[in-house]
Order: sequence, then structure tokens, then C-alpha cells
Amino acid sequence: MDKIIDIISQELKKAFERCGYDSEYGRVVVSNRPDLCQYQCNGSLAAAKAYKKAPIQIANAVLEALENKDYFSEIEAVMPGFINMNLSAAFVTDYLKSMSEDEKLGVRTEKEPKTIVIDYGGPNLAKPLHVGHLRSAVIGESVKRILRYTGNNVIGDAHLGDWGLQIGLVITELKERQPDLPYFDDDYNGEYPSEPPFTISELEEIYPCASSKSKTDEEFKEAARAAVFKLHSGHKGYRALWQHILAVSVPDLKRNYDKLNVCFELWKKESDAQPYIADMVQAMKDGGFAYISDGALVVDVKEDTDTKEMPPCMILKSNGATLYNTTDLATIVERMKLFSPDRIIYLTDQRQSLYFEQIFRCARKTGLVGPETELTYLGFGTMNGKDGKPFKTRDGGVMRLEYLINDVNEAVYNKMSERDMEEEEARKIAAVVGLAALKYGDLSNQPSKDYVFDMERFISFEGNTGPYILYTMVRIKSILSRCADKEGALNGQAYEPSPEETQLKLAASRFNEAVEHAAEELAPNKICQYIYELSNAFNAFYHVSSIVGESDKVKQASWIALIKLTLRILENGISLLAFEAPDRM
Ligand code: ARG
Repeated sequence: MDKIIDIISQELKKAFERCGYDSEYGRVVVSNRPDLCQYQCNGSLAAAKAYKKAPIQIANAVLEALENKDYFSEIEAVMPGFINMNLSAAFVTDYLKSMSEDEKLGVRTEKEPKTIVIDYGGPNLAKPLHVGHLRSAVIGESVKRILRYTGNNVIGDAHLGDWGLQIGLVITELKERQPDLPYFDDDYNGEYPSEPPFTISELEEIYPCASSKSKTDEEFKEAARAAVFKLHSGHKGYRALWQHILAVSVPDLKRNYDKLNVCFELWKKESDAQPYIADMVQAMKDGGFAYISDGALVVDVKEDTDTKEMPPCMILKSNGATLYNTTDLATIVERMKLFSPDRIIYLTDQRQSLYFEQIFRCARKTGLVGPETELTYLGFGTMNGKDGKPFKTRDGGVMRLEYLINDVNEAVYNKMSERDMEEEEARKIAAVVGLAALKYGDLSNQPSKDYVFDMERFISFEGNTGPYILYTMVRIKSILSRCADKEGALNGQAYEPSPEETQLKLAASRFNEAVEHAAEELAPNKICQYIYELSNAFNAFYHVSSIVGESDKVKQASWIALIKLTLRILENGISLLAFEAPDRM
């Protein structure tokens, strides 16, 4: 469906044109003085300058030329030349009816769906997820759902880090602890055990131990680097150990992403890109793009218009080893081959923004992607503690994601336990509400901004929070369960609506606008802002309308249809943010 604002803009544009002015002046905006009118057009003021006339004269002429006035209950030109308008109840009601009949609630879907790969995982094998992975997962899952809702074919890739130093560290530490394992015997020719030599909790202890050792023990670190090199070169024992690490880690990672309601379509790994490297490097050399500088193989990515420093993109280190860059470039080759995507979107902490700029330029320059493929980097800010520094555990360590989630759930549970409910049910609800609190607390910020993790505020049932949205939904469900008429029928003529009802209808009619903006700008915060406004509009309406007790049956039926639609919009909204609502709380 066309957005309401576009429908009325179209009318005004035609009128401007009929009067001999550029149609662009007819653009309508939501009123910034809702006490005066719902929508306004300020184009006469700008046109006045261009055409050297009084703005009010233009506004009056445009009103005269307006063909279809049925959209408006009121439309007037006011000094110095604004056109203020209110929509007619019949028009808005019909619009809401069409919305209700549409599976996507009026959101237009792409005529030519795009294939989009979105890279928003990046967990590292053998390392538990920590809060640094939270934003990527939370924002990425939402962006994926928004782009899918608008009709694209979107593939989420976990892009597992399985090829870096951390594997070498684990292997080296394990070798010190259990040197007799067959994986370390270069002469071993038999089958390797099918059972891994560690459990997930052992692995989780091995990695940090090895990592801190490597910070003080240069020899140990060198051994870890050598182990990575052997792994990359195909050492049989190390490959077998790596397989074990994968087998133990991946199910654990999946379990954790599951708890976050984050689900990847693809579980590709950095190692999957390795087979593409040799040909890619050769082509970069053959094309005259890659050259040796200080022993390393690099591609220049500087452009004349650059105002900031833009170092060359390194493809191979001086010892011939591949690096993070090489893998990301080869992953582009792989993605092009497997999916020919129209767009690839990367989410990481903003600190990698220069890095991705280099990668994108290098990929374009060397022809890994053509001009028709869009490469987008969505860098996000940090989640900080109340002290304004990156969020840490109480003792200053890196917070595991699992523990953070448990803390939030516990806090919600404590808030709820005053209510009368079975323990088990309360725990379940606390987990649903807790996840909403955590995700909404993050997603309601513009991705690029840092934000403060504020438990008290995030779990509050009032204000711009996830639990407030859920509370509103639960309230609607409870009203509906108490009404005999479950169907309802919107009616815009039979009675005089309260201003609160009119505002709720207007808010409901703007869902498509919010979703389309969120998709264009990759901005889940636009969805949060919208569902917050809609919830506020509903609650204001609720406070002045006794829905269950209303004796005018036509009116009651209209209200039921309206709040059902509101609930459906909120349900769609939170599903775009990837959390759910309980039936009670
Ligand atoms: N594994 C990386 C890290 O922990 C993040 C990967 C991000 N994605 C990418 N294609 N580079 O820093």
C-alpha cells in the first residue's frame, strides 16, 4: 500500500503543478504542532521565494486547485502560508481496513527482491560469547528481519572465526597438558579418536589460560603461531583437533544464540574461504593490482579525494602467511560464487570501520565484486557501564553474554515475584521479558551511538522500554479476552471519536512508514520509536475509553477492531526486533 503521507502529498503536488509551480513544493510532513493539525505542507513558503509571490497567495491558490478533498476533514491555508490539514475519519478508517486485510499490514515489498548476505556473527571458536558479540547479533538479527519483511531474500551468516591465533593457543596449551595424545605425534598413522579430548567447560578454561600465558611468555606465543601455520598447511593431527574444537564449540554457540532469539541461516567459517585464496591472489597479481612492499603483498586503496590516511590493504604477510584481510576478501569471492548477492552487509564494532573501507575498496578495485553489488558497513558503538566505560563484570573482567542474560532475567523475575504466579511460569515470563528489556535497551539507540547499560531503566514497565511495549500488548490481550465480540468492525462514521481515538488511528496508519524508513536506513531504532509512539497512543486511548463496558455496540465493535489491529502491529513490530510478548506479566 502507498503510505498515507505519500497519498496526500500526491494530491498536493498535483495542485501545485496545476497552479504552475514545481510539484516538489507539495510535499507533506507530519505536523510539528499536533494541537493545530495532523499534517502540514510548508511548500508555499519555499515557492514564494522562487516565484516571488506572497506565500499565502500561493497556499490559497493551491487549495482552490485541489481536486480531491475527500481525504480531508479540514484543510486550510494559514498565515504566513502554511497549509494545515486533518484527515477525514472515513479515509483513515478505510486505510486501516485495507491494512488489516494485508498480510504485511500495508508495508510495500520490493518489486525486484534483492539477495542480501548479512554478516553479523563473528564469534570465535573456543572462546565463549561475550557482550562484545551482543550488539552485532541483536542489531544484525533485526536488520535481517526488517529487510526480509520488505520482501528481500536475506541470508544471515555466522562467519565463525575458526582460523586464527586462538586455535593455535588452544592446541599449544593442550600439547603442554597432554603431550601423549596422538594428535601431537607426527609419526602417528592410525585413526584419531572420535571423542574430543576435552569438554566445552574444559575448552572454556583452556583458552583464557593459554591466552594470558601468551601475553607474558613469548616462546609460548611463538609456538601458538607455529601451530596455526601447521594447521593452515594441513597438519593431520592439528586438523583433527580443530575438528574436535568445532564439534564441541558450535553446538554451544548455537545454544547461546538461541537464547538471544538469533538464528543464522548459514554457519560458514573463515576456513571455508581458504580454498579461494590462491586463485584470488594470483588474479590480483596478474591484474597488476598487488605488489610487494616491505616484503608484504599489498594493494593500494588510496583515492585522490581522501582526506584521511588510507594505508594499502595487505593481502599476504612477508612470510607468505594469510591474514584477517585475506580471509575477508576470499569470503567475498566465495559469497559471490555461492549467492551472487546484490548486497553484502557487515556488522562489527565501529573500530573496524577503516578496515572495512580498505576491504571494500580492494574488492572493487580488483574486481571481486562488480558495480552492481553493494557493500555496506554498519558499524556500531559500544555498550558502556554506568561509568561511561565499556561494560565489564564487577571485578573488571569481560562479561560473558550468558551471565548478562541471566542477570537481566533474574532482575525481571525479582520484580515480578510479588505477583501471584507459579514459580515456573514466572521464570518463563521473566526470560521473555528480560530478553525484550535487553534487546530494546540496545535497539532503541541509533546503532552508531554508544549507550549505557542501565538495568533499572531497561527492565522498567514504564517509559521507552521493552517491558513497557510488552505490558501494552498484554493489556490489549486482556481486554480482548474480556470482550464478548471478538471480531469487531472498524467504523469511521457512526459516532464522534475522542481525540485519543483519532490519534491512535493515525499512529496505527503509519506502520508502513516506520518499516520502510527502518529498511532504507538499516535502523531498527526507527521501529522502536514507532512502537513506542503507538503504545503511548493506545494507552492514552485506553484511559479515556471503557472498552469492555461500552454499551454502544457499533462503537465497541469498532474499538475492538482498532485494538486488535494495534496488537497485530505491535506483534509485527517486536518480531522485527526479534523478541516476543508473553500472554500475561
Ligand atoms: N571474528 C571477528 C572478531 O571477533 C569478527 C568477524 C566480523 N566479520 C567479518 N567478516 N570480519 O573480531
